[in-house]
Amino acid sequence: MHIIFEEAVRLLKEGKVVAVPTETVYGLAASLSQPAAIDRIFALKKRPLSNPLIIHLSKVEQLSPFVTHIPKEVREMAAAFWPGPMTLVLPIALFTIPNRVCAGLPTAAFRIPGHPMTLSLMDRSGPLVMPSANLSGRPSATCSAHVEEDFGNDFPVLDGGPCSHGLESTILHRSNDRWQIVRLGALPAAAFSEVLGYTPDVVSHEKEKSPICPGQLFRHYAPRARLKLTSAAASCRGVVIGFSDRSYPEAAQVFTLGSLLSPQKVAENLYHTLRQLDLEGIEEAYVDMLFPDHGLWNTIAERLTKASAK
Ligand code: TXA
Ligand code: MG
Repeated sequence: MHIIFEEAVRLLKEGKVVAVPTETVYGLAASLSQPAAIDRIFALKKRPLSNPLIIHLSKVEQLSPFVTHIPKEVREMAAAFWPGPMTLVLPIALFTIPNRVCAGLPTAAFRIPGHPMTLSLMDRSGPLVMPSANLSGRPSATCSAHVEEDFGNDFPVLDGGPCSHGLESTILHRSNDRWQIVRLGALPAAAFSEVLGYTPDVVSHEKEKSPICPGQLFRHYAPRARLKLTSAAASCRGVVIGFSDRSYPEAAQVFTLGSLLSPQKVAENLYHTLRQLDLEGIEEAYVDMLFPDHGLWNTIAERLTKASAK
């Protein structure tokens, strides 16, 4: 159910959960100062309590109450990428953030999203916690219709149009004096080299007992359909997820992600396409994985790999 801006402000202040747009994906928002609403996010999404939430701010100054010190490098990264699809994991001052938000970790994840409507909303509501607005494990929502698919037509959504990036933010964590990427996202690793003086490594902690980024452990972004990834485009048959610049002679039906010349467009279409498989009742699809392995393509490959996991 689409709601107007003032209604979203009112509901958030009353301790309700509202879906709101960001430039990456839609978020399921609750006010940071409303513990019951934060609990409701976990229940609505069926999200494990061990998976912490990102705190969204409208200005860098709003970081101050939560972190004892804002290092120069964080200010430089913020100046370069915020508002935008970068999330920073920072050590937090004791007792400043409800335990359920950071899942008991000594850190919290912060970002200033690049969507004017949600920035204005936070000027009124204060900081918002928001995971992606999808049932846990499902493809993220990149338009208001996707939110309604997962949470029903009566769920309050502030409609800000389709998301321009279509992939979640890139999450960075600092370890041994170097930033590492703990979740690939809408900003490729190389984007950070000018500000940092090096390209951050992409780290995976999936096999560790206490991963740095707990949400990366699970099968994720997945439609109900079984996805079969293949780098042999010629062997794609039946239902195929592929590219407009390639032909699939063995395919009965092709879902096109866009052109190999535009990873940005492919990113924008990715979750919509995965959701479309479910709407059409498809049980199995081949995915053409024969695409470059740099920049945004790496994020696209990671999402498809997680979406195909058992
Ligand atoms: O683009 C985005 O980041 C979207 C929009 C709505 O802002 N949000 C999003 O939230 O993707 P969510 O909850 O779907 O994913 C957040 C990820 C999870 O993998 C979680 O484990 C990680 O952020 N995270 C949150 N707090 C963390 C922390 N303190 N340390 C490491 N990872 C953290
Ligand atoms: Mg998510």
